Amino acid sequence: MTSAVAPFDAPTLIATKRDGHRLPDAGIDWLIDGYTAGWVAEEQMSALLMAIYLRGMDEQETARWTRAMIASGEQMDFTDLRRDGLPLKTVDKHSTGGVGDKITLPLVAVVAACGAAVPSASGRGLGHTGGTLDKLEAIAGFDATLSTARLREQLVGVGAAVFAAGALAPADAKLYALRDITATVESLPLIASSVMSKKLAEGAAALVLDVKVGSGAFMKSAEQARALADRMVDLGAAYGVPTRALLTDMSSPLGATVGNALEVAEALEVLAGGGSDDVVELTVRLAQEMLDLAGIHDADPAHCLRDGTAMDRFTAMVAAQGGDLSVPLPLGACTETVTADRGGVMGDIDAMAVAQAAWRLGAGRSTPGERVQHGAGVRIHRRPGEPVTAGQALFTLYTDTPERLAPACGELDGGYRVLRLGDTPPLRRPLIIEATP
Ligand code: URA
Repeated sequence: MTSAVAPFDAPTLIATKRDGHRLPDAGIDWLIDGYTAGWVAEEQMSALLMAIYLRGMDEQETARWTRAMIASGEQMDFTDLRRDGLPLKTVDKHSTGGVGDKITLPLVAVVAACGAAVPSASGRGLGHTGGTLDKLEAIAGFDATLSTARLREQLVGVGAAVFAAGALAPADAKLYALRDITATVESLPLIASSVMSKKLAEGAAALVLDVKVGSGAFMKSAEQARALADRMVDLGAAYGVPTRALLTDMSSPLGATVGNALEVAEALEVLAGGGSDDVVELTVRLAQEMLDLAGIHDADPAHCLRDGTAMDRFTAMVAAQGGDLSVPLPLGACTETVTADRGGVMGDIDAMAVAQAAWRLGAGRSTPGERVQHGAGVRIHRRPGEPVTAGQALFTLYTDTPERLAPACGELDGGYRVLRLGDTPPLRRPLIIEATP
C-alpha cells in the first residue's frame, strides 16, 4: 500500500540514504508511520537501517526521526499528579546498555526513598546487553505491563515503577527488535532516537543518561560516547526536558554478576547496604544527579541505601507489580567453575567476553521473542586488581542447559588474564569518566 498523503516510496528513500544524502522530513514521517502500520516492509526498513548505520543521520534528521517515533504512540503526562498536596517531582534515568548493569533496580528505589517519583519505561535485552525487564521478570510474579491508571497510582503511592514501554513509541519497539537481528544496533542516531523517543514519550519531567563507554558498550571510545551524549542532551532540551549525561566505564562488567536473577540478587545486596563498590558508587551518583534535576537537595541517597528505606521502596514496588521476593530467585541447575591455573593478580576482565558467555548460557536471546533463562549467567569471584591463588575460583557459570557450558567457557577464554608479579597491572579506569556540563 502507498500513503495517500505524501509522494514517497521506500526504494527511493533507501537510495537517498544509501547514496549519502539527507532524508527529507516528510519522508522520515512517512517511513516511521508506514513501518509502524506495516506498509513499509521489514526488508525495506532493514535496508534503510543499514544505510543509516553506514551513512549516519545529521542532527536535524535524528530530531525528526525521534519526533516521528514519539508520535507513533501514546505520550504520558504526570504534571497533574500530587502527593501530600504538592506536585510530584518526576525524573528518570536511562542507560545506553552495558554488561552487569543492574543499576536501575536499586536506583529507582533510592530516588523514590528520597522523595522523587520515577516512571521508568524499560526494555528487554538488546544485542549483548541485558534488559531491565528480563532481570525484574526473574522475580516470581513480577508484571511489567502496567495500565496508565495503575502506573499513576503507583507513582503517587510508591514513588517508582519499572514497566514495559508498551504503547510508548511503538515504532521504537519494532525498530529495536529489527536492529537487533540486522547488525544495526551500534549507530549513534539510531541509539539516540531510540532512547529519547521512549523517554520523552514517558513524560518524566527530567532525565539523566548513563552513556556507557568501552568494550562492553555500543560506543567503544569516549569520543563516540560524548557525541551520543551531546545528541541526546540536545534532543531532551528541544522538548523542554532538562537532560544530563554521565559517561561511565563499561570495559569490564559492573559488579560481580551478569545474568538476570544473579543481578537481581546483587541489586538486593546493594539495597541491603552492601554490594560491590562500583554498583554502589554509580547508583549514588546517578541518584544525586536525578535528585538535583528534580530540585530535591536535602536527601542523602547513600544513607537511604544504608538505613533500609530504599529497600522498603523496592519491596513495595515489586509487590505493587505482583512480584514475590519471598520466592527464591532461580539459579541455573548446571554449573561450571573456572579456576586460576596459577597465582598472581586478576587482570582486566573483558565485559564483552563475559556478556557473550552469559548469552551462550541462555541469559539473552538469539531470536526475537525467545524466552530467556532467568537463572543463567556468570558470577565473577575475583575482580581486576584482586590477588589470586592457584586453583582459586575465578568465575562460576550457571545454566539449565548443560551443553551450553562448553561454548560459554570458550567465550570467557581470552577475556581475562591472571597476571604474574612483574606484569603490567590492569589499568585503573575511573568508573565515572565525565559529566555533561
Ligand atoms: N537503549 C535503547 O533504548 N535503545 C538503544 O538503541 C540502545 C540502548
